[in-house]
Amino acid sequence: MKKLKRKDRTRAKVSKKFNWKTHHDELAWFKGEKINAAYNAVTRHALSDHANKPALYWENDRGKAKTLTFSELEKLSNKFANVLKKLQIKKGERVFIFLPKVPETYISFLGILKTGAIAGTLFQAFGYAALEDRLKNSGAKYLITSSELVGRVDKVKKNLPKLKKIILIDKIKVKKNEISYSKEMAKASDEFKVKPMKPEDPAFMLYTSGTTGKPKGVIHKHGAILQQHLTAKKVLDLKENDIYWCTADPGWVTGIAYGILGNWSNGVSSLVYEGKFSPDKWYSLIKKYKVKVWYTAPTAIRMLMRSGVKLPKKYNLKSLRYLCSVGEPLNPEAIRWGRKAFGLSFHDTWWQTETGAICIANQPTLKMKVGSMGKPFLGVKAAVLNDKGKEVLNHAGDLVLKPGWPSMMKEIWRNEKKYKSYFKKGWYYSGDKALQDQEGYFWFIGRADDIIKTRGERVGPFEVESALIEHPGIAEAAVIGKPDALLGEIIKAFVVLAKDYKPSKNFTEEIKKFVKKRLAGHAYPKEIEIRKDLPKTRSGKIVRRFLKAQELGLTMGDTSTLEKE
Ligand code: WTA
Repeated sequence: MKKLKRKDRTRAKVSKKFNWKTHHDELAWFKGEKINAAYNAVTRHALSDHANKPALYWENDRGKAKTLTFSELEKLSNKFANVLKKLQIKKGERVFIFLPKVPETYISFLGILKTGAIAGTLFQAFGYAALEDRLKNSGAKYLITSSELVGRVDKVKKNLPKLKKIILIDKIKVKKNEISYSKEMAKASDEFKVKPMKPEDPAFMLYTSGTTGKPKGVIHKHGAILQQHLTAKKVLDLKENDIYWCTADPGWVTGIAYGILGNWSNGVSSLVYEGKFSPDKWYSLIKKYKVKVWYTAPTAIRMLMRSGVKLPKKYNLKSLRYLCSVGEPLNPEAIRWGRKAFGLSFHDTWWQTETGAICIANQPTLKMKVGSMGKPFLGVKAAVLNDKGKEVLNHAGDLVLKPGWPSMMKEIWRNEKKYKSYFKKGWYYSGDKALQDQEGYFWFIGRADDIIKTRGERVGPFEVESALIEHPGIAEAAVIGKPDALLGEIIKAFVVLAKDYKPSKNFTEEIKKFVKKRLAGHAYPKEIEIRKDLPKTRSGKIVRRFLKAQELGLTMGDTSTLEKE
């Protein structure tokens, strides 16, 4: 082994001694080792001399802005908890949020956690079929949404017998089975006794797509806040007086773990921008709010790159101190561009919906190797295994983690088989391929399965294929991720037309709209290719990887393997 540098030697020593338990004191606990993530994110700051410090700076692209202090956020989330209490919500019941990044999203999320119920979030671009799958599987009892979005839920409400009421944030006059948020909030007390939970009790859930079957509900524990808190502090480098901007949506895990929990548990003022992406707008927000720490995604960085290095120079962005990225491979060009544009490096962080918090990262204490994801966070053991399950260095293999990190998912909602499938011989398999070098740095290689990452958002090909074959003109469909310089990957669909179906001139556009409406505004195929047939195994399973190899101009390999599968 190469001799370790001084910084690395210190790190190695700290890492050896590290024990999650010794950091318990950084959080607030109830009697009997109980905890509540929302209490840690907001209540304890509202009870401290941080009470009047801004927790949320919110702004949209339609000229509206609002600031909520920790004390205001505390009171409003208490009110929402009381609204749910009046509805007799019980511990472990599911309440879902289907909203854009508006203040009500943050208020209701915290309110739900305070009651001991499980908060579920739904990305605002979801279409009615995607909503039905998630709300049905979770057995959600209440849903909070807006009059703009509720139509998509109304369409499938008849198939959701467990959904008792829909809470509308912007309506006073409501229909039967609907509740007016503002009316109920006005009546509710702003005092609430936060429910002490066991660290392993569920706090929130997120649906994530696999390669087969319907999306799965990943359940996260209240105790996960320990790792979210520590990584926000030690990886994102959040300090008490920072203004922090996480650009992720709470419909996805980053928007929860580092847009609500980890950031606020560190008492940090956080910016939320609800609106369309525009480089000018983003730079002006950094300037206006004097953002110090910025957590974003490679697609966004690449989009900023396209608008050039001169544009950021037009703004005073001197407040920026630390930049991080997540969700897709962070191109070395993006890091180099960041250095030119902001005089700072983007620090890559790796994790997943299932891991609940950052597990591998380019941490401030670490010398950065451009292009690598960095090293495991203190207390996280990661490795790369070969096909035989042996740890390997300098070889591509499966990226695995040793179970036991505090934010590891608790379960897959009502699907133990799926949960168990992640674990083999004492390791958690991430589904990613990676390489670990001699010095312990991890390098991302790709997915081991067909999951697609487009704009940093995770899309399961099965869901897109299912939506496609609902169309009367499509008999069969296969979907792959096609590399794209800007979006990481785009979704490409191969379809076989139904017998005697004559596609119109607008067939492609028609299909895109069809999928968007059902599934999601972000998960439709950008490219559609009509084929006579699709490659299949003898048992009739479509083999996406052959289509992908063809698309990338790679050799198809031995097609006889198709027969054996
Ligand atoms: C990918 C997002 C390369 C990876 C928090 C992982 C990354 C999946 C990185 C999880 C990174 C995440 N470099 N790829 N730094 N971070 N990924 O569940 O394939 O939306 O398995 O969680 O994104 O995506 P998810």
